[in-house]
Amino acid sequence: MVADSQANTLVSESLASQKVLVLDFGSQYAQLIARRVRELHVYCEIVRHDLSAERIREIAPMGLILSGGPASVYSDRSPRCDPELFRLGIPVLGICYGMQLACETLGGKVQSVAAREYGRADCEILADDVLFEGLPNVIEVWMSHGDQVAHVSAEFVPLAKTPTCPVAAVKHLNLPVYGLQFHPEVTHTPLGREVLANFVRKICGCRANWRLSDFADHAVEQIRQRVGDGRVICGLSGGVDSAVTAALLYRALGSQLSCILVDNGLLRQDEAAAVVREFSDHFRTDLHVVNAEQRFLDALAGVTEPQEKRRRIGHCFIDCFAEEAAKIEDAQFLAQGTLYPDVIESGASPDGPAATIKLHHNVGGLPENLSFKLIEPLRDLFKDEVRRLGLQLGLPEDIVWRHPFPGPGLAVRCLGEVTKERLERLRLADFITVEEIRKAGLYRQTSQVFAVLLPVQSVGVMGDSRTYADTVAVRAINTEDFMTADWSRLPYDVLARISTRIINEVAGVNRVVYDISSKPPATIEWE
Ligand code: XMP
Repeated sequence: MVADSQANTLVSESLASQKVLVLDFGSQYAQLIARRVRELHVYCEIVRHDLSAERIREIAPMGLILSGGPASVYSDRSPRCDPELFRLGIPVLGICYGMQLACETLGGKVQSVAAREYGRADCEILADDVLFEGLPNVIEVWMSHGDQVAHVSAEFVPLAKTPTCPVAAVKHLNLPVYGLQFHPEVTHTPLGREVLANFVRKICGCRANWRLSDFADHAVEQIRQRVGDGRVICGLSGGVDSAVTAALLYRALGSQLSCILVDNGLLRQDEAAAVVREFSDHFRTDLHVVNAEQRFLDALAGVTEPQEKRRRIGHCFIDCFAEEAAKIEDAQFLAQGTLYPDVIESGASPDGPAATIKLHHNVGGLPENLSFKLIEPLRDLFKDEVRRLGLQLGLPEDIVWRHPFPGPGLAVRCLGEVTKERLERLRLADFITVEEIRKAGLYRQTSQVFAVLLPVQSVGVMGDSRTYADTVAVRAINTEDFMTADWSRLPYDVLARISTRIINEVAGVNRVVYDISSKPPATIEWE
């Protein structure tokens, strides 16, 4: 496949003319900072921490944010930025490690402190500055670094302090450089949004011109120009990314779009039917459904090893997809629902950070040798933006807010051998779990909820007789980005209803357990 990055970039210059760059120093929050800036309707991209000042001048952003990061600025191998960037006249906001780096580069002194301040703190604003305009004198903030700026040179003015951090915010006297020891991007800093808004709007002077409706109009225009009267194939999985990709392409191209759904027999209950309803009845696309359940079951027969399952499913998917795609004779383009985090994490963008060690399942999928040109209309968007775009394009809430689901589907939640009977057991247990979560009004408050069928039988009693049957594990997690996650503190009565219903309604199951592991060290999926 030909991935022509220029052709794939849809954010036109006019839309992104007022952008802010986040220089990534390895923070787990770099993407969150960018998302927060975009929530303020200012376009924001993540770039490598050592991007040269010259390249930055060329990109001409309105502002720069130096992210946090785990390193210490006084260690030899700490990631540095081009010191010239402080002299470009572009406003800079250093956050945590970013502040320490800015201060150290410009003459401050950074120290590791004994009273390491982690977590919540009260931050007192000391000076009247536009960065804190409209905020009360004391704000609650979130700290997460063992180093602090101990002394600043005479060119800096301290703007805030906490009981254990004398310089919690600073400003340079002559350069437009600001620093925050705390994280304005996390929800634990409740007024962090206002601080970021003051920076991007008042200090950088950005207008609020990043709107998804404009993005959709531009994207439609660019897709039309690129595809002309050609035909695009789009794979549908039931997930939100592929659904929004297809809906956007449909708006741009109408009948020039063909969709393929490989029904691998590993989908959630009613999922295939919902896709057909949406993309054949509502959006009248040329939808091809490949009924491949038996093919997948045959490929998985006798396999219990998780990686081998994934490998076989991957191959089977490619074969089914390619066979169907070959029947669509006039297609030149293949659409994929790649999102901005995939682009960043795969290291695919020239100015972006290097690839992180995230051997991720979402990247990859189809092989390079399919002779299509690749079209990735969502590659500039974060997931929350994709969801909002989906609603604007007329997709139902049910699809737009659906919890993520792994490509290999129920197979990686059916531990042990995957058989039709075990899949059916799991599918029903999963349906009951999610239905009870919805009924309790918790679906949008949780990030992912599902059932796992364990290869573990245990003794039970039903009526007068002894049973020896399967165990179902229920998994519910909350997360901002799926890289780390915490288990959801579901109310006991909801757990009780899920358990009672599964044991009563799913034949062959006599025990339900709740997974209380966070990620890391556990993963979200069990395989
Ligand atoms: P883990 O289990 O790695 O999952 O903590 C993180 C997120 O990724 C999803 N996931 C997958 N998505 N293909 C996918 O498209 C896969 O093979 C796959 N495996 C895990 C998982 O559901 C969670 O949202």
